[in-house]
Amino acid sequence: MQFDILTLFPGMFTGPLTESILKRAAQAGLIDIALHDIRTYATDRHHTADDAPYGGGAGMVMKAEPLAAAIRAVQGGQDTEQRTLTVLMTPAGEVFSQQIAHELSGYDRLLLVCGHYEGIDERVREALIDRELSVGDYVLTGGELAAMVIVDAVARLVPGVIDAESIGEESHSGGVLEYPHYTRPAVWEGREVPAVLLSGHHGEVARWRRREQLRRTLARRPDLLASAALDAADYNYLQSLGWSLEQHNELA
Ligand code: ADE
Repeated sequence: MQFDILTLFPGMFTGPLTESILKRAAQAGLIDIALHDIRTYATDRHHTADDAPYGGGAGMVMKAEPLAAAIRAVQGGQDTEQRTLTVLMTPAGEVFSQQIAHELSGYDRLLLVCGHYEGIDERVREALIDRELSVGDYVLTGGELAAMVIVDAVARLVPGVIDAESIGEESHSGGVLEYPHYTRPAVWEGREVPAVLLSGHHGEVARWRRREQLRRTLARRPDLLASAALDAADYNYLQSLGWSLEQHNELA
């Protein structure tokens, strides 16, 4: 899968995208991440990428021409068979989620446009942006960290980047949080590993893990239960913890 990042600060990306799992994925040819400096598309002597807002007010706005030229140059370099999506990073976008990460992983190519200053000229958004994403209800100094979050969350869903089993079991897949994990030693500072995990009984282990997922989700993120995939045994267990179906229907 190809990721193209359009930014005024390409230097921010070295490190996060060139270490660990993403580094291995790139070396294996599973993903490719290209950085494009928007400023190089500005044609004036000073490579001006921003200007004061019409109508006045604080801050600067990313100018239409260099940004549009950068997006078009990168889009133009693509093979027409590729499914491509151009995404703008903005706190005013749809809030990114595991579900959206799965949707994005279905594309061959993502163009991630990092907004900066007060934002981008509205006309570029209208003309060239397919989708707008926010990584949460808080304001960053720019879209760079948001783009890194999205590349990381989407790249790990590309087949072969991490083992398929961990994707199926992790938090948020199936709409519930992950169960707790333990490794050796069996007793650490007087705290024991739950006996069922040492029992070797696979059925019991699976049941315990499912119940822990439900218990944690109810305690920490009951909002997730409204859209989680739950079976009759899950409902019974949740009810035994004081959760009610009426509550669930109200949330849904
Ligand atoms: N740019 C500034 N804040 C952001 C956020 N929360 N998500 C995406 N892009 C941003």
